[in-house]
Amino acid sequence: MGDFQGKNVIVSGAGQGIGYGLCRGFAIEGANVVLNDIDADLARQAAAKINDEAGDERVAPFVADMADPDACISLVKFCSDRLGAPHIVVANAGITHYVPFLQCTPDVFDTIVAVNLRGSYFLAQAAARMMVNNRIAGRILLMSSVVGLRAFPNFSVYGMTKAALQMLARSLALELGAHGITVNAISPGATLTERTQEDDPNYAENWATVNISGRVGTVEDVAAAALFLASDAAGQITGHNLVVDGGWSLRSPLPEEHPVLPPEQDIS
Ligand SMILES: NC(=O)c1ccc[n+]([C@@H]2O[C@H](COP(=O)([O-])OP(=O)(O)OC[C@H]3O[C@@H](n4cnc5c(N)ncnc54)[C@H](O)[C@@H]3O)[C@@H](O)[C@H]2O)c1
Repeated sequence: MGDFQGKNVIVSGAGQGIGYGLCRGFAIEGANVVLNDIDADLARQAAAKINDEAGDERVAPFVADMADPDACISLVKFCSDRLGAPHIVVANAGITHYVPFLQCTPDVFDTIVAVNLRGSYFLAQAAARMMVNNRIAGRILLMSSVVGLRAFPNFSVYGMTKAALQMLARSLALELGAHGITVNAISPGATLTERTQEDDPNYAENWATVNISGRVGTVEDVAAAALFLASDAAGQITGHNLVVDGGWSLRSPLPEEHPVLPPEQDIS
């Protein structure tokens, strides 16, 4: 695991859930972190909670809407002015919105794409410009999803944006590699957060039945992947999509009757 002392980190959409877990993980490893969220109360409370735990002012909140490209620039400038140019940037802000394809409107489409895709694209661009200008061989991480790998009901727009982020990681890895910057995507599977728990009070139990790991994912699982990809140890990994889903996306459905399947065997 890398040593993040002296590293400046930006995480967007981090007032709760996975983004919060990433900020906490980086801060505990010694980084200075700018924690962004669109919700001012969430951002301030989240930063204060991590600072309490760390016993130090490691995390600064920055309230802004990542759907606005100018706000992405302001977020990177805030980090540079306060801490110095960013070494690690995680474009994590995303809207998880279920909508049946036959009912999706242009407004819903634009809202999801604006945050998940445009926001990630222009945050990565603002960060990369700052890294290049300051000769920082930085790390950019894009928060994709297994829903960008496998089709999921009512997620046509969400899934499309998450698939696009995996392609964006490959494209940016190519364009930024000469500057020593690596760009990778992370694809969490079902991850227990405040939101997923609220959507389904039995979220952990239900996903434990379909994940090969036999349990639901945690924000700490995703943070471990992010800290690895942001570490010195991962310097040769770029354009990759790291799936953190307990094996969920490995499965393919089989018919109940399948002639080449061997009979159930007891190998105990
Ligand atoms: N939780 C999961 O199971 C899961 C699985 C795969 C991928 N993901 C992805 O991980 C990321 C985080 O997911 P989560 O479940 O922790 O999300 P969440 O909904 O719990 O939290 C997202 C945070 O982002 C903030 N936010 C929303 N719009 C914003 C904007 N325009 N600008 C700035 N902040 C904004 C929200 O206020 C919230 O605090 C998302 O990109 C999501 O698509 C989550």
